[in-house]
Amino acid sequence: MEKFVIHGGHPLYGEVSISGAKNAAVAILPAVVLSEGVCVIENLPKISDVAIMLQILTDLGAKVRMLSDSVAEIDPRPISTPVATGELLKKMRASYYLIGALLGRFNEAEVALPGGCDFGTRPIDQHLKGFAALGGQATVRQGNVRVEAPVLEGSHIYLDVVSVGATMNIMLAAVKAKGMTVIESAAKEPHIVDLANFLNTMGADIRGAGTDVIKIRGTDHLTGATYSIIPDQIEAGTYMAAVAATGGDVLVRNVIPKHLDSITAKLEEMGVEIEEFDEAVRVRRTKPLRRCNIKTMPHPGFPTDMQPQFGVLLAIANGTSILTEGVWDNRFRYIEELRRMGVQASVDGKIAVFEGVPELSGAKVRSTDLRAGAALLIAGLVAKGETQVGSIVYIDRGYENVVEKLTGIGADIERRAFPDEDAVPAVR
Ligand code: EPU
Repeated sequence: MEKFVIHGGHPLYGEVSISGAKNAAVAILPAVVLSEGVCVIENLPKISDVAIMLQILTDLGAKVRMLSDSVAEIDPRPISTPVATGELLKKMRASYYLIGALLGRFNEAEVALPGGCDFGTRPIDQHLKGFAALGGQATVRQGNVRVEAPVLEGSHIYLDVVSVGATMNIMLAAVKAKGMTVIESAAKEPHIVDLANFLNTMGADIRGAGTDVIKIRGTDHLTGATYSIIPDQIEAGTYMAAVAATGGDVLVRNVIPKHLDSITAKLEEMGVEIEEFDEAVRVRRTKPLRRCNIKTMPHPGFPTDMQPQFGVLLAIANGTSILTEGVWDNRFRYIEELRRMGVQASVDGKIAVFEGVPELSGAKVRSTDLRAGAALLIAGLVAKGETQVGSIVYIDRGYENVVEKLTGIGADIERRAFPDEDAVPAVR
């Protein structure tokens, strides 16, 4: 198996450039299925989730050509089946976007139920509620979801929980429905706006993305388009947290600072200096971190996908901090691993309490999911001695060239094979 081996204790200095947003890319790639022409998608992150999604599209029949590391040309016209049930689908959560996209294109879709990071129950009832409102009949059998809609008709949908996936999936089907669809209590994450912008570039009529009411007027035809994906808010936040943890001074480039507001606010509260530029933020930490309380919430609240990375900051801040998970049922499994490194924290349901400690010590730990893996990397960068982070397939799902990027700002980290150790379990 491969691991990341880190020798911690070095402050980070220099510049790091952020890649395209994973959670936008994994929705925009399936959206290409709706196009009646060739699409060129730019600023794709080089991560395994994107590679898997491109392979799924290829397996469906699309012609995919990489024009460079980060640019894919995709011709979805040869796709002639609404059935996507291969093993690859189970490897990632976002494969569920193919339900909306295939339904929009063929009025039917059969897609294997998704995998992805495991942090509690991950139902898709709100997606199915949306498809039902548009006229889709859903059945689940043998691990596949099948939705059929003889006619897709615009409708008024009120989501019972604010769901990123349901909001985007309903948008994907509704752009091809007859008439107007209104999604109320919609999610507002930057990647929702990015998907809407891409669909609008293809000729869709979506208004209100980024607010909690999205209006979609259906259209018969969507054309090919060239589109550049937004920078990854969570990758940027992860590097900001890394600098806050180790101390130092780093310019995080190719970001949209507005998307980082909630992360910046918490870092400033903890005594980290942030300077904003048009497309970059400078992160500087010279003093000890101050304690604070954080609760994760849907956008524009503090993102759940930054919760584990900030757990590490609270673990080394002065005093007692409370971290509340407001989105997922069970996203504190990484704390068990952090305890091996000297972190003092207790967990009760969705609340973790950290008693800040002055230093961490290196240990052998395992990622339990993508952002847990990111947290362990940050802990390793802080810890005295050697840290070995295992199960790095999770980290490869969402962080492009993480070793190169961290090494570039002064970290001592390498990817090393450990042939004698057990292979990691496959990504779910
Ligand atoms: N929920 C339902 N029913 C549904 C859908 C969601 O009850 O039909 C609940 C979930 O159980 C959860 C909450 O609603 O408690 C929010 O889930 P959401 O649907 O927003 O999450 P998701 O779309 O499955 C995306 C990201 C996650 C990120 C969440 C929240 C992708 C591929 N994944 O998941 O990202 O945590 O939104 O922002 O976009 C990650 O990148 O590490 C990651 C896990």
